[in-house]
Amino acid sequence: MNGKESGDILRVEHVSNYYSQGGLGILRKQEKNQVLQDVSLTIGRDEFFGLVGESGCGKSTLGNAILGLIPYEGTITVAGLDRAKVSRKEFTRHIQAVFQDPLSALNPRKTIGFTMKEPLRAHDIGTEEERDQMVARMLERVGLDASYAARYPRELSGGQRQRVCIGAALILQPELIIADEATSALDVSVGAQILNLFRTIDVERDFSMLFISHNLNVVYYLCDRIAVMYKGSIVEMGTADAVYNDPLHPYTRLLLTAIPDFESENYKDRQLLERFRPPSPGSCAFYHRCPHATDKCKKVPDLRNKAMKGEEEHLVRCFYL
Ligand SMILES: Nc1ncnc2c1ncn2[C@@H]1O[C@H](COP(=O)(O)OP(=O)(O)O)[C@@H](O)[C@H]1O
Ligand SMILES: [Mg+2]
Repeated sequence: MNGKESGDILRVEHVSNYYSQGGLGILRKQEKNQVLQDVSLTIGRDEFFGLVGESGCGKSTLGNAILGLIPYEGTITVAGLDRAKVSRKEFTRHIQAVFQDPLSALNPRKTIGFTMKEPLRAHDIGTEEERDQMVARMLERVGLDASYAARYPRELSGGQRQRVCIGAALILQPELIIADEATSALDVSVGAQILNLFRTIDVERDFSMLFISHNLNVVYYLCDRIAVMYKGSIVEMGTADAVYNDPLHPYTRLLLTAIPDFESENYKDRQLLERFRPPSPGSCAFYHRCPHATDKCKKVPDLRNKAMKGEEEHLVRCFYL
């Protein structure tokens, strides 16, 4: 099947993953920590999909599994292609990523133009002159002057560097972009400008995006659909409007009330406090924090559709909704 023609751009089916935890010395035990808990989701052509949840819940782990960077159980296809069955080169034509720290993503010794041309060269696209033109056009598309091609990363601001990373991700015209906390490390006003770029750059809607963030406001602003993750489990998923304006799961409601905190100086402390603890095996992931939990919640609820007739799908993982 030609990936360019398939319906869904991303299919994640029953994906779980484990990290091994080694103890010390002779008592060393190889225990496995399950991070992703049977995650399934699909992203349609040209859809912007938001994945939200607090730090440590497994968002980057899912992104990295989709990018083929870490092992997982289950099935993932990007544009109809299974990473295990195609070469890295073939795969990277279809999927590209933008990460949190643009400085470490760029080679300090190469000009912006060189870095942006690299994927075109690797894929034998165009003559050297045509590549220069493609880079110039892309720089303008991401809001930079074409003359930036001759500059080095250290000569650019954080926001400008992130614009370069977005341009480099788009230059091969992939069907899917994974943006993992792509605005989180920037000053608030610069982050807002980059968010705006994401929103306006795709006027022709020719790619899909998995936009990963701890901030529900940010995801709501940009995305068509949203999945809320808690301890590696999707607890709610639906249109951005339904999840944001009519949140059903107690965790989504908590996330909405916590937004000012997430943006505050204290956020780092909160991250430490709420460092990942695996859910008790076999129980609802939110069992220990849920104000409504009962004995029934010692089992894992299914994701069930709570949409009214005629409305789009709104899935929630809770026995009491
Ligand atoms: N390479 C790794 N080895 C062991 N544990 C890891 C590794 N990467 C992530 N984890 C753990 O997996 C959990 C999820 O991490 P991550 O996917 O980075 O969360 P998020 O992106 O939502 O902040 C965390 O508990 C983290 O400590
Ligand atoms: Mg992360």
